[in-house]
Amino acid sequence: MVEPLPHVAIIMDGNGRWAKTRELTRPEGHLAGVDAIKRIVKAAVTRNLPILTLFAFSSENRFRPKAEVNFLFNLMHRYFDENLKELVEEGIYIKIIGETNELPKATLRLIDHVQNVTSDNDKMTLQIAFNYGSQEEIVNAAKSIAADVSENKLSLSDITKETFEAHLRTSGLPSPDLIIRTSGEYRLSNFMLWQAAYAELYFTDVYWPDFNEHELDIALKEYVTRERRFGRISEDNKSHDKEDKGLIAKFSLKKASK
Ligand code: IPE
Ligand code: IPE
Ligand code: MG
Repeated sequence: MVEPLPHVAIIMDGNGRWAKTRELTRPEGHLAGVDAIKRIVKAAVTRNLPILTLFAFSSENRFRPKAEVNFLFNLMHRYFDENLKELVEEGIYIKIIGETNELPKATLRLIDHVQNVTSDNDKMTLQIAFNYGSQEEIVNAAKSIAADVSENKLSLSDITKETFEAHLRTSGLPSPDLIIRTSGEYRLSNFMLWQAAYAELYFTDVYWPDFNEHELDIALKEYVTRERRFGRISEDNKSHDKEDKGLIAKFSLKKASK
């Protein structure tokens, strides 16, 4: 794998359809999804990835049937009950991002606890997007910048891309280099709309509960073949510049106006 190793973000989709193909229930699909989370967190550590971001629950997922929403909230509690000790021992720093206003008190306490007990860790960052929606995140950033301006803490000319980023829920962490979405859907579903500006996108038909180390390696292998140009031209093209000089001169504005 080429350095620097990528910040990988995963839209973990397809638990329900995975269950359906096995004539299982949706909650059973979500349970299998948690097993995949455990596998992939371990795999990310083994591969020395600096940051793994997992999209676990979107702000729109709250509009699913209440029983499923409750199940997913309880699943997060159970995941940490069962795995937090090991995550701490492995040196993983956990950051949980999302809208917290309407979360139950017990979930807020859990989030605080998880972040506090892992705050000194630096082996890998595990960023979990829970009750997260990127449009809400952007509106929230705009509001807090507007408040800073109205309180004269910030002037209009201070508002740059960097200031804006500092007000996003992901502040302090770089944007993902590679976004993987499982289950054959080709959309972002309100995930990291700002941060995805130059991310490499990778889609696989594999349902999340079937995603494993091998699937991760296929995605990483594909990632290293991508040439990230960030709007520039590639190094290869620069060497052809000489040949273009004549044409460029012919099309220069000065000549064209004669
Ligand atoms: C992903 O699986 C988990 C969450 C969105 C919480 P889904 O529950 O969306 O599974 P499908 O898309 O219905 O198969
Ligand atoms: C995106 O999956 C959210 C998560 C993976 C947490 P969804 O299943 O909610 O996305 P849509 O509704 O198919 O776009
Ligand atoms: Mg889905």
